[in-house]
Amino acid sequence: MAIAVYGATGHTGRLVTAELLARGQDVILAGRSEPGLRSLAAELAAPDRVAVHVAPIDDSAALRRLAERADALNHCAGPFTTTGAPVAAAAAAAGIPYVDHAIEPHPVKHLFDAFQSTAERSGAVLIPQMSFYGGLGDLLASAAAEGLSEVDKVTVGYAVSGWRMTQGAVNTANLLIGEIDRVSFVDGAQRVGPVEIRNSVFPFPPPVGPRTTLVPFPSGEVVTVPRHVPARTVEVQLTSSTFEEEQIFTSVDASPEERARTEFTVAVQVLRTGGGGVNAHVRGRDIWRAGALASVEAVLRLTGGEGPRKAGVFSPAESFPAGPFLRSLAEQGAFEAVLPD
Ligand SMILES: NC(=O)c1ccc[n+]([C@@H]2O[C@H](COP(=O)([O-])OP(=O)(O)OC[C@H]3O[C@@H](n4cnc5c(N)ncnc54)[C@H](OP(=O)(O)O)[C@@H]3O)[C@@H](O)[C@H]2O)c1
Repeated sequence: MAIAVYGATGHTGRLVTAELLARGQDVILAGRSEPGLRSLAAELAAPDRVAVHVAPIDDSAALRRLAERADALNHCAGPFTTTGAPVAAAAAAAGIPYVDHAIEPHPVKHLFDAFQSTAERSGAVLIPQMSFYGGLGDLLASAAAEGLSEVDKVTVGYAVSGWRMTQGAVNTANLLIGEIDRVSFVDGAQRVGPVEIRNSVFPFPPPVGPRTTLVPFPSGEVVTVPRHVPARTVEVQLTSSTFEEEQIFTSVDASPEERARTEFTVAVQVLRTGGGGVNAHVRGRDIWRAGALASVEAVLRLTGGEGPRKAGVFSPAESFPAGPFLRSLAEQGAFEAVLPD
């Protein structure tokens, strides 16, 4: 069994590769830069378990050959606005399981809009944003809303401090901050257009407590959560202080150890129509590790025969039972999870 990691040379790709090797998988290190990939392969010192495959993002034939030699693909290169569709297209055509780390709502929406019929024909299962941002919110919303037939609003709150962005994260943030036409889900309908950016307060559980947030934070739950929670409105928020910290945009050269010091709480508030609600959250350190573990767990479940019963494009929570999936990540040390019974 060989799992392709596209963008293996990046911080996320390296964490995903290390976890796959630790879990006994062979890995195809893939990406655009042959010297970078060869140097990573030499560093890993596992010549019989890693292979290198060079496939620039605009070389559809090389991407197709990659998907044809792999049993599954974990896509870690971004911004996904640029890299998402070409790699997903290769996996969809080849009929293999695919997960990615997109945060941006537009590429997440595009995956559902563009690849459903190809995946159904080829037998592929594609899961976007199976990572920290997007994936954890989607899974928590499902766990909290389980059994509810009418939901007024799902709010996903991210409290993040000490975030040291990589080059890929900075490039992604720069695209998102200036974005005019945003994807939102309001009054039971998906909309694309300008939105008012405002501050709100989200009641994070202790020890974080109520914190001022930036709303809306552009993360793909606005696309995925309405697919499985009967919500009228879905909104994502991020603590305002996250972008006010000095190190966030100036840590492109930070060490992996420094990056691992990020603290996070991801909390979901599900408000029932007619009153009352349900909360759930996860809390931990190192957002990259949490995302890498989530994506590897998903890929291994898919290659092991778990997941959706049919082919197509699915959200994380449509693919796996949310509570057990989050609890299994908690057991692996990705975070602590407080979920409804
Ligand atoms: N949703 C989440 O929670 C989450 C979590 C982690 C990461 N991400 C996303 O994942 C992406 C990577 O993040 P990172 O932290 O790993 O960044 P990083 O350390 O800067 O690595 C970026 C990776 O993407 C590759 N890449 C960039 N542009 C490319 C292009 N046009 N064609 C082919 N490869 C390209 C780079 O290849 P080279 O080495 O050749 O430059 C490198 O392998 C970002 O978009 C980030 O937003 C999201």
